[in-house]
Amino acid sequence: MRLLLDTANIEDIRYINTYFPIVGVTTNPTILSREGGDPAARLCEIRQIIGPDKELHVQITETEYEKIMAEAEIIVGALGKNTFVKIPITDVGLRAVRDLTAKGYHVTVTAVLSAGQALLAASAGADYVAPYVSRLENICENGVEAVAEIQQVFDAAGCSTKILAASFKTAREVVDVALTGAATATVSTFVMQKLLVHTTTDTSIKGFRDDWENVFGKRTLGSWLTNGEQK
Ligand code: G3P
Repeated sequence: MRLLLDTANIEDIRYINTYFPIVGVTTNPTILSREGGDPAARLCEIRQIIGPDKELHVQITETEYEKIMAEAEIIVGALGKNTFVKIPITDVGLRAVRDLTAKGYHVTVTAVLSAGQALLAASAGADYVAPYVSRLENICENGVEAVAEIQQVFDAAGCSTKILAASFKTAREVVDVALTGAATATVSTFVMQKLLVHTTTDTSIKGFRDDWENVFGKRTLGSWLTNGEQK
């Protein structure tokens, strides 16, 4: 499953983009508001950090059709061709999705909570639909099952729209969503780190180092293989 980072925090993006296999960054008005400052400058800096080829998902703030269309053009003009315009699932949003995708824009339909909404978004031509896993769990729904149902609908329809699962609170949710066959997920820095860390891994790595040094001291394998030329 392809992973994106769901934050607008510059330090986190620099770190995760350096070490983790992400294919892009997702933002929304809430995420940008958490960081404050100038959101335009922040988005340009994010684009500069991840480079021109990775996906940057940016949500519109307008709610009227003509203004959404104009704002989408401004967003992509400012942030480059691999920028996905995020549009919440509404009637006006669907109209904009249909017309923006017809013009060649990449569009992500967001705040999706049901297979019905996902079906509409896919029919309108969305590149991605973003179901909110934890927000479903928080209203006593099954977020992972909702993603699985959306995937089934897309498979049955043979449509090219992909799932960009979002709103994760735990690493377990991410793995469960991956098992549904969902193409993509966007996760917070916290969840990304939870996917990586395991205390038994730490113990194992310490064991490798201790065992090596007990026998070979501080001399590295590279040094042995190059007869001491590699220091
Ligand atoms: O990408 C959408 C996501 O940020 C929503 O997540 O944690 O606010 O439910 P959350």
